[in-house]
Amino acid sequence: MGDYRARAMLLVIFIFPALMEGKVRLYDFRVVLTNTTKLCSTKSIVTINGKFPGPTIYAREGDNVNINLTNHVQYNVTIHWHGVRQLRTGWADGPAYITQCPIQPGKSYLYNFTLTGQRGTLLWHAHISWLRATVHGAIVIFPKKGVPYPFPKPDKEKIIILGEWWKADVEAIVNQSTQSGLPPNISDAHVVNGQTGAVPGCPSPGFTLHVESGKTYLLRIINAALNDELFFKIAGHNITVVEVDAAYTKAFSTDTIFIGPGQTTNALLTADKSVGKYLIAVSPFMDTVVAVDNVTAIAFLRYKGTAVFSPPVLTTTPAINATPVTSTFMDNLRSLNSKKYPASVPLTLDHSLYFTIGVGIDPCATCVNGSKAVGAINNISFIMPTTALLQAHYYGINGVFTDDFPALPPLYFNYTGNNTAFNLQTTNGTRAYRLAFNSTVQLVLQGTTLIAPESHPFHLHGFNFFVVGKGFGNFDPDNDPKKFNLADPVERNTISVPTAGWAAIRFRADNPGVWFLHCHLEVHTTWGLKMVFVVDNGKGPNESLLPPPSDLPSC
Ligand code: C2O
Repeated sequence: MGDYRARAMLLVIFIFPALMEGKVRLYDFRVVLTNTTKLCSTKSIVTINGKFPGPTIYAREGDNVNINLTNHVQYNVTIHWHGVRQLRTGWADGPAYITQCPIQPGKSYLYNFTLTGQRGTLLWHAHISWLRATVHGAIVIFPKKGVPYPFPKPDKEKIIILGEWWKADVEAIVNQSTQSGLPPNISDAHVVNGQTGAVPGCPSPGFTLHVESGKTYLLRIINAALNDELFFKIAGHNITVVEVDAAYTKAFSTDTIFIGPGQTTNALLTADKSVGKYLIAVSPFMDTVVAVDNVTAIAFLRYKGTAVFSPPVLTTTPAINATPVTSTFMDNLRSLNSKKYPASVPLTLDHSLYFTIGVGIDPCATCVNGSKAVGAINNISFIMPTTALLQAHYYGINGVFTDDFPALPPLYFNYTGNNTAFNLQTTNGTRAYRLAFNSTVQLVLQGTTLIAPESHPFHLHGFNFFVVGKGFGNFDPDNDPKKFNLADPVERNTISVPTAGWAAIRFRADNPGVWFLHCHLEVHTTWGLKMVFVVDNGKGPNESLLPPPSDLPSC
């Protein structure tokens, strides 16, 4: 009897708290080929479980998520849980050759991670070659049981995933571009939850968002496009932004959302206009000379009770180069910074980094023009290793990477001046910047005008960061920091660095592992606009990278 009671006590002490920590959420992801018709043409695409967009992961803060991925296609596959902090579980982060070797055809891998300190909307996507064009989906993290949203409770929630669609095979496009050295073809249309809407020459109903008069909806908007920053607008309705990248913001009302690839925005929509049909328009942003898919995706907001053939209320889209619309939207984003959800901005800095980001042209003997486009950070174009960096780091394998990534650019010049005729030859390397556990980092991302200035949505794996400042032209280290917002800067995982401008971010390196930093325009990642941070283990009991899982793929 005493033995029984002791065991019951043990149960209470050890098992019950473990249950309290959250549930285990199990998902089966089968990577398969699926025939799909859009823009009046059919092709075979890579999907998860035959779905485009793929299945939604639902969980609560604190839950343990287990996704068993089995690869039934001829491509190597990995999946990244974009924005999930992956505290000590870098093995589940997903970028190919950074944290894991790819899952080969016929093989499987269990992605196992816990959602700690995050709630809101994120996305998952393939993180190898350009497979994420069709391999992506939503991650919905509800607050812990009994914890309310810090905004009025919506009646319903709707997921809205924005993407890009090519009529041709996307893997063929990127392979061809890599061989020729020419930029890859732009997409043929944008999609809302997998639907393009009508385009010239091909009728299509488009996605319909059904609402009821008087109700409020939480829209979970995700930009899963590869290469396009987008505007999202609903005719006749303002929406109230309450969260971005799974971090709460101060609420603000807007008629237009600006959202870069990899970013998410939660916004409240109240159906308080007359019963009817309203246009939803998704259009690209491009404020420079680079070619972009400028086909607007058309969807509809439809009130219950709308007559069958009622014409929609229309809206105009922002000009394609509406830079002020993007600035206003980004300036409105502030951390909620409440007692419950404080903005813990690092106020002292161990590392002050200045990275120039841009594209250039390097010689290429086998390419069509004898040259190819490259992307570089501090003039270093990142070369993908053939061994996963996290393994190399964990097992101390030499010769895979070096940890001498420079804190500053090699050369000072007017980065945002008239440089279109000026080309720096880049150097190549698999170079990392090493950080001690818990050190604080300020990183100024400086866009350059080499070849073509462009807005770069930069994504950091493994962390959220605070966007303490941004501006146009060159960062001024004497005067700009005086204007930094250290009180309630927006917290996120992906930031659009303005065209020919800069953005300053701060984060604490409290997550040991190897973490990718890259432009989330897939075309730029392909060209080498990327690098990694190596964060060493700390000395405390919970400050080390966990050992790799036994089914970790090998290269
Ligand atoms: Cu959403 Cu490394 O990417």
